Amino acid sequence: MVAIARIGLIPERAVELVGAALNLIPTPVPQALFAPPVARVLHVGVAIGLFAHLARGGPRTTEELARELELQPAGTRLLCDCLIAMGHLRARRDGRVALSRRSRRWLDPDSPRSVARYVEHTGTYWPWWEQLESLVRDGTHVELHDAGADDASWATYIRGQHELARLSAPEVARALELPPGARSVLDLGGAHGWFSAVLCDRHPGLRATVVDLPGSVAVGREILRESGHATRVDHVEGSVFEAELGEGHDLALVFNLVHHLTPEQTVTLLRRVHAALRPGGRVAVLDLFAREPGQRPGGESFLGLFFHLTSGADLPRESELRAQLAETGFKAPTSRGITRLPAQTLYVAERS
Ligand SMILES: C[S@@+](CC[C@H](N)C(=O)[O-])C[C@H]1O[C@@H](n2cnc3c(N)ncnc32)[C@H](O)[C@@H]1O
Repeated sequence: MVAIARIGLIPERAVELVGAALNLIPTPVPQALFAPPVARVLHVGVAIGLFAHLARGGPRTTEELARELELQPAGTRLLCDCLIAMGHLRARRDGRVALSRRSRRWLDPDSPRSVARYVEHTGTYWPWWEQLESLVRDGTHVELHDAGADDASWATYIRGQHELARLSAPEVARALELPPGARSVLDLGGAHGWFSAVLCDRHPGLRATVVDLPGSVAVGREILRESGHATRVDHVEGSVFEAELGEGHDLALVFNLVHHLTPEQTVTLLRRVHAALRPGGRVAVLDLFAREPGQRPGGESFLGLFFHLTSGADLPRESELRAQLAETGFKAPTSRGITRLPAQTLYVAERS
């Protein structure tokens, strides 16, 4: 995670290496100058359909791209130059540009590992980051989840989350051993329901209930209808703090939700989860975690700042989660890192 935070000049020649070692290169300049366009050329590449067009239609000159996508030639050429510099496009000897082999996997919207919708959604973070100074000066934050149920942002948000879940769900489902005969999973803030769907694929007889806010549920239902999982995974609209959660569930998933909650809300939620599980049932918490006090902050600090800006919450610390689980009646959890999404850790704790 630390390397994610490192945007700067990467010395390529001996003289630059020496300059960097002697601290002669003004590192704040490349950080301030390059970080915004690095993000923005990706957002725009997805938004104008550039990656999809190259993936489906094959290599093109930038003039052809401009004509076919109804763009301006100069801007298209310069955007492509930046994407070539980043390694996402490849300049061919015949003067045409192509999606690079490595980036096709991630940026072709039809790839099963595409993260194009996720990248597109990060484009909507732009106005939020403009609020950063207000957050630091007077504590004002925005509320990501307050958008109206029919706001268009839910579709890119939840489809982007679904793309990330597609990457890690098989590994997560393998890690969540369920006893033979397990029947019921509760997926809190489960959105697309993909983690539940993959669990149901692995365990015949299992059904899942996803509880989420209405805007998220509308998109999640669509995703599960498209994939044929709607018969095994139900969606319930409502807040995880108010909705009827039922009882006797074998497993409850709390995935990427705690980082949107205050510590008090997390405790309240874990108590509700405890009451909804059968004796011996388990809660699984998948999330990003802040470093413990005294440890040097790394790239996760940017996510911590982002969640504080967009939810007024903080990344949980692992020690904090362990204490909250103990306080709410769970045994000591097991934990494991997720290799397909390296920043995430999965905690599983049994109801005591
Ligand atoms: C970052 S997404 C995670 C989605 C999914 N669990 C995953 O890991 O991919 C957070 C989800 O929590 C939902 N959420 C946030 N606050 C909620 C609340 N109070 N009640 C129900 N869902 C909530 C959001 O609508 C969103 O779908």
